[in-house]
Amino acid sequence: MKLEINNRRYIGSKNSLLDNIDKVIKKYYKDNNFVLADVFAGTGVVGNYFANKGSKVIVNDLLYSNYVAYNTWLSDDKYDIKKIKELIKNYNSLNSNEIEDNYFSEKFGNKYFHYNDAKIIGYIREDIEKKKNSLTTREYYILLTSLMYETDKIANTCGHFESFLNKAPKEKGVQLRIPEIKKLKKKNDIYCKDANELVREIEADVFYIDPPYNARQYVNFYHVLENLALWQKPEDLEGNSMKFKRNHLKSEYSRAKAPEVFADLINNIKGKLIVVSYNNTYNAKSGASNNKISEKQIEDILSKKGKLTKYEIDYKFFNAGKTDLKDHKEYLFVCEVI
Ligand SMILES: C[S@@+](CC[C@H](N)C(=O)[O-])C[C@H]1O[C@@H](n2cnc3c(N)ncnc32)[C@H](O)[C@@H]1O
Repeated sequence: MKLEINNRRYIGSKNSLLDNIDKVIKKYYKDNNFVLADVFAGTGVVGNYFANKGSKVIVNDLLYSNYVAYNTWLSDDKYDIKKIKELIKNYNSLNSNEIEDNYFSEKFGNKYFHYNDAKIIGYIREDIEKKKNSLTTREYYILLTSLMYETDKIANTCGHFESFLNKAPKEKGVQLRIPEIKKLKKKNDIYCKDANELVREIEADVFYIDPPYNARQYVNFYHVLENLALWQKPEDLEGNSMKFKRNHLKSEYSRAKAPEVFADLINNIKGKLIVVSYNNTYNAKSGASNNKISEKQIEDILSKKGKLTKYEIDYKFFNAGKTDLKDHKEYLFVCEVI
């Protein structure tokens, strides 16, 4: 089975909105001859969509696990597909009975994964690290991406790692897939840093802005994948959900300072068009779902930067049963910078 960029579960992914985003940008740019910066790129599907249409893209996220994936899908560094296929074939024939306990099985086995599956994931991760010197940088990222996507796929969760399901995890078997990597026209730039720092360093025609808007930290959702990608094997994991110490990866956009950091971001953008995704979960019942930046604040901040237009999109969104929003709306604010 082939593996594609959108074959992962990611809260707030705009995979189903790509056409809408494209239609809105087309009102300003008829062809794809623009540089697009996707500075809160998450899965990278938005950047990837425009890169496949011929634009040069700049992708960035605070999380290293996302950076690893961008290096698979959007880099133009060299890799040997035969070598990748051979390694993945060997990984897919591993037998958990012949594999010893390891960091991943000890920390996450019988929680997020069946113990045998966790042993295999930990073994493969260690092996990729051991082989690092015999792999190109891209090959290293491709193997990690394939392992991360499979780890997400077989996890005993409802789609993120805030908690695992109550029922004991079933043995699913670890079968890595080979990423379907497309040849892209332009060389893209890939970063892993705070978006507010990055915008001070780059220029682009279009900035696509899709930050988190509520108190839920992305690193809490995806800490197991981040831990797997970083592979620093921290011993000291917090609580039942086994989170590593991650204060440095927490986002200011999920805190009270969000309006201030959003204004700082917009003020420092050097670009012609700013496209901001926003949704109206503002009055959700669950406190953590309430937006930290109001629609009015977004409008005020963007209006100071240029001419503002608001587009509305109907959208079925991540709900997990906690919120009760019948008419959820997704907006795109477009600011033509003066
Ligand atoms: C709503 S998600 C983006 C989803 C993305 N558009 C997609 O389609 O997959 C927001 C992303 O912003 C990242 N993030 C949060 N704060 C950040 C910051 N200060 N700088 C860069 N990225 C940040 C999170 O890790 C998360 O991946």
